[in-house]
Amino acid sequence: MSESEPCVIEVRNLIKRFGDLTVLNGINVEIPRGQITVIMGGSGCGKTTFLRHLIALHQPTSGEILVDGANIVGLSEKEMNNVRRKFGMLFQGSALFNSMTVGENVAVPLKEHTDLSPEIIRIIVRVKLELVGLTGFEDFMPHQISGGMKKRVALARAIALDPKIVFYDEPGAGLDPITASMIDRLILDLSKKLNITSVVVSHEMKSAFRIADQIIVLHKGKVLQVGTADEIKNSKDSYVQQFIHGESEGVIPFKQTSEAYLKGLLST
Ligand SMILES: Nc1ncnc2c1ncn2[C@@H]1O[C@H](COP(=O)(O)OP(=O)(O)OP(=O)(O)O)[C@@H](O)[C@H]1O
Ligand SMILES: [Mg+2]
Repeated sequence: MSESEPCVIEVRNLIKRFGDLTVLNGINVEIPRGQITVIMGGSGCGKTTFLRHLIALHQPTSGEILVDGANIVGLSEKEMNNVRRKFGMLFQGSALFNSMTVGENVAVPLKEHTDLSPEIIRIIVRVKLELVGLTGFEDFMPHQISGGMKKRVALARAIALDPKIVFYDEPGAGLDPITASMIDRLILDLSKKLNITSVVVSHEMKSAFRIADQIIVLHKGKVLQVGTADEIKNSKDSYVQQFIHGESEGVIPFKQTSEAYLKGLLST
């Protein structure tokens, strides 16, 4: 598949089991190039697990994951490392190194994966920090900046190597609504200006509707629905409706026994 083709990632019949627990149970999706895809679903439904497969941090029980047409399942650790270099990743929580300055944090992938001189690395770090609105923050320590700023530093680090695909796991988690919407704007901005394909895991409806070109709803290890924000908003599915309106009454049980919970997980 060439870079002009519409799908950058194609997932075919992806199944992941942890022991008896089937977390992903036959996922088939396509991630369009240059667009923002949001993966939605309730807590524990397997969003992070799914994302970790896309960046080759998990091996599936079965199925295929094609990135630019090449299957990344079953690659050696060395080959997977090469694949991972194509990607930027913003982990759930910012995962900054607390003993390093902001600038040193952003420089980590550049030092690890390139032979660039310290002077060039300093320039790239400055540019990346400028892109996320943090000009002049190189020498700050993570504890001296807010949670929203930490997310932006993590984002600058995620785009340090100019990836064509960036993955975000719950970018707005733990942030106030205004800061979370700022992060959304940044994701939109970077995706459109730098022509990056973005895959965002989120259970924040507002955020998903703000940024998504495509929304994938996961439920019980399967894809429940794929569509644009409008299509999901107007979904006839009762789970999707309960989910987007954040209601505690409906098809998702509030009270259940641990046996019923386990049974629900295992029956996926
Ligand atoms: N390494 C693992 N070993 C065993 N079970 C796991 C492992 N990783 C995830 N799970 C299980 O898989 C299920 C899905 O977990 P996952 O973290 O992917 O959910 P999630 O949708 O990202 O949840 P959240 O919204 O809370 O972040 C959970 O039941 C979890 O306990
Ligand atoms: Mg998660």
